[in-house]
Amino acid sequence: MCTFYDRPINDLTKLYGFNHKEAVKRLKEVVDKGTFSIVLGARRVGKTSVVKTFLKHYSYKYLYFDLSPYIGQNAVSFQALTPTEIGFNEKELASEAQLNISIVSLRIREAKITGDVFQSNLISLLRDLNSKYKKFIIVFDEAQVLAFLKGINVRGLIQLIHNNYSNISVILTGSMPGLLEKVISPTKAAEPSFARYFEKIYIPRWTKEETIDFLKNGFLKNGIRADETELEEVYEELSGIPGFIVYYGLLRTSGKSHEKALENTIEYAISLWKKDIDSFIKIYDSPLYVEILKILARTITGASWSEIKGELETKRMTTISKSLLSRLLQNLLGAGMIEKLNGKYVVADRALKKAVLRLRIK
Ligand SMILES: Nc1ncnc2c1ncn2[C@@H]1O[C@H](COP(=O)(O)OP(=O)(O)OP(=O)(O)O)[C@@H](O)[C@H]1O
Ligand SMILES: [Mg+2]
Repeated sequence: MCTFYDRPINDLTKLYGFNHKEAVKRLKEVVDKGTFSIVLGARRVGKTSVVKTFLKHYSYKYLYFDLSPYIGQNAVSFQALTPTEIGFNEKELASEAQLNISIVSLRIREAKITGDVFQSNLISLLRDLNSKYKKFIIVFDEAQVLAFLKGINVRGLIQLIHNNYSNISVILTGSMPGLLEKVISPTKAAEPSFARYFEKIYIPRWTKEETIDFLKNGFLKNGIRADETELEEVYEELSGIPGFIVYYGLLRTSGKSHEKALENTIEYAISLWKKDIDSFIKIYDSPLYVEILKILARTITGASWSEIKGELETKRMTTISKSLLSRLLQNLLGAGMIEKLNGKYVVADRALKKAVLRLRIK
């Protein structure tokens, strides 16, 4: 079914696209195996929709932590770790566990809840959930935020679940794989790396055929005439990203012309990318990132490592070390802002390119 819907989807019949459906199945396999998973993909590609569809389709019991409001903050209070959705009947739990859930949901306002109290209540809640249910899912949506959480040892928490609570599976989602690595692969060699507990599930963009088919069907349902050239333009401009294609579809159904709907959607995509660049710069504090993005955005086919180095050095009138440039490029790749194609670095999509060209270098 091709529905233009502006919220995350949680119904398999409405989740469009071969790879999105495959990702739902893959999540099921990973959870059945008892492994943890990381759902990765560009902004608005459908990560949340895949996870919510998975939870609903297989009727799992779950706790859902939506950390997206905290993206870009480099110090996040433990209170962010309050579940946004409680996907089971709390009344089924023993009274102590019900109290724990009230505490971690921050419903008990009068008590002073410190990070330690919060953490120990969360742990005892997890213990109860593990013994009560055969399978229980904990989702951290936009889990890169966990790297900046203060007052709670999240890595310890994940380790604890992994070692002791075999009925609980953890699912992380993230649009910045580089930052997620920070959560699961600590830099200190003494700490255990969690990377091996997690299976990565990538959500790709829709193909050109999928984009056109989705829009054609959606238009048909809404009595809108589909023009092949226009649909191809939508695919090219919006780089096959479902969230933006749906946004365009919604504008068309509200009566906007192709030109107006596409223009508004591109502006919307640019504004989201600007926010993402902002968050990225707050975390990786260096003007060189914007300079690299600008160098790449001005090219048509991208630039090689040495071309970027040369341009940066000319602009800055100083040498840039190999290790610094490698780190800068690695972080941009990890944030999904650039990609490496045939030995050249390119900006990942058109709207991002436009957003970059509008940025001022400080
Ligand atoms: N496979 C799909 N079929 C139909 N609509 C979809 C699909 N994937 C995403 N959408 C639509 O795109 C929008 C964005 O989806 P969603 O919020 O799941 O993406 P996301 O990757 O989690 O985005 P964000 O980066 O903002 O967290 C929603 O309106 C959703 O309805
Ligand atoms: Mg999301």
